[in-house]
Amino acid sequence: MKPLYFSNKILKWYAQEKRDLPWRDNFDPYSIWISEIILQQTRIDQGTSYYLRFMEKFPTLLSLATANQDEVLKLWQGLGYYSRARNLHFGAQQVLNDYHGIFPTSFLELKKIKGVGDYTAAAIASIAFNEPVAAVDGNVYRVLSRIFGIDEPIDTSSGKKQFAELANQLLDRKNAGDYNQALMEFGALHCKPKQPLCQECPFSKNCFAYTKQIVDVLPVKSKKVKQRHRFFYYLCIHQNKNIYFKKRTENDIWRNLFDFPLIEFNESKTTAELFSSVQWNSFFENQTIQINHISNEVIHLLSHQKIHVQFIGIQLISENILPTNFIKIDKRNIFDLAVPKLIENYLSGLKG
Ligand code: ADE
Repeated sequence: MKPLYFSNKILKWYAQEKRDLPWRDNFDPYSIWISEIILQQTRIDQGTSYYLRFMEKFPTLLSLATANQDEVLKLWQGLGYYSRARNLHFGAQQVLNDYHGIFPTSFLELKKIKGVGDYTAAAIASIAFNEPVAAVDGNVYRVLSRIFGIDEPIDTSSGKKQFAELANQLLDRKNAGDYNQALMEFGALHCKPKQPLCQECPFSKNCFAYTKQIVDVLPVKSKKVKQRHRFFYYLCIHQNKNIYFKKRTENDIWRNLFDFPLIEFNESKTTAELFSSVQWNSFFENQTIQINHISNEVIHLLSHQKIHVQFIGIQLISENILPTNFIKIDKRNIFDLAVPKLIENYLSGLKG
């Protein structure tokens, strides 16, 4: 998808759907800073009432810098993570002392304020000063990973770097503040962690995760559970007008669906290794076969698994029958079977 197409679409969505939030009616860096730090702690609905109380008590940078720390902490009560409140207080004093009370205007200078990291600096720089820098929060990881099909874990430094690079490539450099807020807002309201609104999504035709039906799998986190790699070699065995299938009895997500006879390894194999494996021989010893094709690798993502799949198209020439737990299905009827999505995709390819 072209960056301009993406940014135009997301900005159009934002113009129609954005919430009317109290810090959105001005470009004052102080208000934006306060709102962004509060929103790292809580959701918008709760955060808004904290923000309003905070701004009522400390309407200016000077009022916060000269406040007593206890007053600041009291206002923060209930939000948790009190170091954020202490940093806000300290940061206000820094701006007062080091910048004559005037907020720095660039991403790099903003990062010198205590408690202001990449995300907050990018949010303030883009929203208040329109600096073209992407602000990447959890919402943005989710939206980008789904639309662009990125399965790089979001909690590793290489994953974070990859997402930040993509967000910056897609950035609308003339509307950086709105672009950043549009992505976050879209993640919060539309491309939600659970039950995202895919049916009515402006990206549904282009969204990798939606078209591949892996919306619930993305984004991927590495730390919780390590991703397991599995290597499936599916044997699509044709005999006259039939194809062999097998009903899955394993107690997993595919229980009772049909797939092909399968050889599985926990590491990648070359075709030579596959053809000389014990499993292969147990299928085809004393059979006359012909290999018709070997597909490219297809990746199938599950929540904690990455399945690397290759399909081997095989013509069974001998009349010998394969083990009895396989069933022969007439090719005209294969679309009546309940099969995993990855088998369905493969079968659709055979049709043409
Ligand atoms: N979450 C955190 N900051 C936000 C913002 N400025 N707009 C939308 N969602 C946000």
